[in-house]
Amino acid sequence: MTACCKRFLFLIALVGLVAGCSRDEPPSQTAPADSPAVSAAAGLPDVQWPRHGLNDSETRFSPLADITDANVGKLGLAWYFDYPTARGLEATPLVIDGVIYTTGSWSMVFANDAATGQLLWFYDPQVPRSWAVHGCCDVVNRGLAFDKGRLYFGTLDGRLVSLNAADGSVRWQVQTTDPEWPYTITGAPRVIKGNVIIGNGGAEFGVRGYVSAYNLDSGEMAWRFYTIPGNPQDGFENEALKRAADTWGGGEWWKLGGGGTVWDSMAYDPELNLLYIGVGNGAPWNQQIRSPAGGDNLYLSSIVALNPDDGSYVWHYQTTPGETWDYTATQHMILADIDLGAGTRKVIMQAPKNGFFYVLDRQTGELLSAEAYATVTWATHVDLETGRPVEVAGARYLDGATDLHLPGPIGGHNWHPMSYSPDTGLVYIPAQDAPWVYVTDEEFQYRPGYWNTGTDSRIAALPDDPVARQAVLDTVKGAIIAWDPVAGKPRWRVEHAGPWNGGLLSTAGNLVFQGNAGGQFVAYRADTGERLWSFDAQTGVVAPPISFRLGGVQYIAVVAGWGGSMALVGGEALKAGAIANRSRLLVFRVGGQASLPPAVDKPLVIDPPELTASAEQVAAGFKEFMTYCTFCHGDGAVSGGSTPDLRALTPEKHAMWDAIVLGGMHWQNGMVGFGGVLSKEQSDNIHSFVIDRAIFANKEAGDAAVKVEQVVN
Ligand code: HEC
Repeated sequence: MTACCKRFLFLIALVGLVAGCSRDEPPSQTAPADSPAVSAAAGLPDVQWPRHGLNDSETRFSPLADITDANVGKLGLAWYFDYPTARGLEATPLVIDGVIYTTGSWSMVFANDAATGQLLWFYDPQVPRSWAVHGCCDVVNRGLAFDKGRLYFGTLDGRLVSLNAADGSVRWQVQTTDPEWPYTITGAPRVIKGNVIIGNGGAEFGVRGYVSAYNLDSGEMAWRFYTIPGNPQDGFENEALKRAADTWGGGEWWKLGGGGTVWDSMAYDPELNLLYIGVGNGAPWNQQIRSPAGGDNLYLSSIVALNPDDGSYVWHYQTTPGETWDYTATQHMILADIDLGAGTRKVIMQAPKNGFFYVLDRQTGELLSAEAYATVTWATHVDLETGRPVEVAGARYLDGATDLHLPGPIGGHNWHPMSYSPDTGLVYIPAQDAPWVYVTDEEFQYRPGYWNTGTDSRIAALPDDPVARQAVLDTVKGAIIAWDPVAGKPRWRVEHAGPWNGGLLSTAGNLVFQGNAGGQFVAYRADTGERLWSFDAQTGVVAPPISFRLGGVQYIAVVAGWGGSMALVGGEALKAGAIANRSRLLVFRVGGQASLPPAVDKPLVIDPPELTASAEQVAAGFKEFMTYCTFCHGDGAVSGGSTPDLRALTPEKHAMWDAIVLGGMHWQNGMVGFGGVLSKEQSDNIHSFVIDRAIFANKEAGDAAVKVEQVVN
């Protein structure tokens, strides 16, 4: 395609963007630039959403109470905006001076008028689509940071970009990662003092985690903190890493990356001058391969407190010593001052993947309490004396596979933000149960740039036997848990059809908002969990809602668009069904009258060709599929709704298999060619496995007795 032709297509796309926006009334006057600005009409000050977690404490509790448990029933769509993509959306919008800023798939940035939805500008950092293969968890981006008219965000291929908020023009951009290694950025940066702080992801693929600070004005790097030691022979960057190296027993983890990426959460206490970072899992997951003589492997799975002025270590708390299950501690962290019975404590709270809810003293890192919030089978409890979990026998799969193990790598809670309401004293957790079976991959070989977990995921695939299959599916759940951090137990719980539901917002109107995997956007009473209102979003929602007031009107906004890791890999275990991705920004107000165009679902037509391969070839294809394909095309080739369902390939697509899978014909849409890593024979085997799954689906559908009832919340 010529450059001119590309430009033309881009123009069409832009026209489409503007046309895709609809609202319920003529544009109203937006507020003047300074905050809080007073609206003459209503006499109520504008209230923004200026930071990722609303504030440095990341509470995600809106003090607005114009929308309440009494009038939320009248909430309606004010306007919506169609994004030009159909992949996962996980961003928290920012609202500043009447403009709503969001990031979308492929790290694109959008600025819309917050009252009318009109697109003001859009910026595409041109992430090479082929980089998607180095992303564990979809081509998502969780948002921007803002400071003094400037925006900051990360790109999937590891850049940090600063834009002028007024027009989206680029101020500077820096490459924060070594492009020779499969790093990705999906998390939102945070602005602290004169720096913008950014982490990265990629532990599944084999990288060494770190977090860096860049000067807001110049984009120059101010400091970098590595979360795990590198090769001891090269010396250590600081004393904290030297101490950490003593906890890595044997092995050559630095050749496999080692992990410990800071791919999402941070929080900041300006009074204590402490920056908290959530550190991820080991690379490979399997500690026997990474660090065969054991040890805690610091600072994996830890909350680490740093001095934000120079990035120096202050304290750490490790949630999962010797991590071997993909138990990240990158989940949302909330700072609050609460009374646990002996006076008010400054605490930091987290519900990491491992299933325990932690309350720590945020000045010292002292463990105050840790109680299971999700189903936990790997440990009986956390010992408050030692601060360590008490593991059950066999959990480490040293001598063979685990039983059905909870939580699995998706976690009891993943990146989806929680919310803490000081009104109710509750932390609202978008929790889930999604089991896994862990076993060492006896044929493990490090494959640079591809999945390297050191476990054989075939064992965790849903079994074909209907009874065994149902038994696994029965353990898969999703819920909102209203957690009382003082009592260390839930006060109420709302069950969902399945896992991977949206992030949460609580408000002073006694409300909690959440979108779910089943495509509903719902308001609940914050004190009781009673369901008060819902809206058909036409797509699974995973992103967290926000609230703001503009021109005297309180709005609720959410980025809707199904996707993310579980949506890709989950297959039938998603339970809410494969909901097609429809990518939109939805904005609500009391009395909003806009409506979405009707959603037309394409039926899934599974009509496979005859299977000519042997059972051995199908089995070999199963192994390669689980190694190279399942993380984007789903367990058993059952699509989660944001990538094509391979069981439903048309005859034309079957004929083009080699061109697509080996040749990379669709690389521009994120489906790279595997010609460099897979032989023609391996690719053929995968093809046979996919046909086998299609035949199985049709057989199952024909047998009503084994059909799983789909409940949609
Ligand atoms: C990083 C994510 C990712 C991985 C890994 C991946 N795919 Fe894909 N695949 C996609 C996406 C996205 C599309 C849709 C591309 C498009 O819209 O043109 C796709 C499309 C396809 C298609 C065409 C489907 C259609 O109906 O047009 C085939 C066939 C396919 N993939 C096979 C595979 C196989 C086999 C593997 C493993 C060797 C694999 N993919 C691994 C993301 C991935």
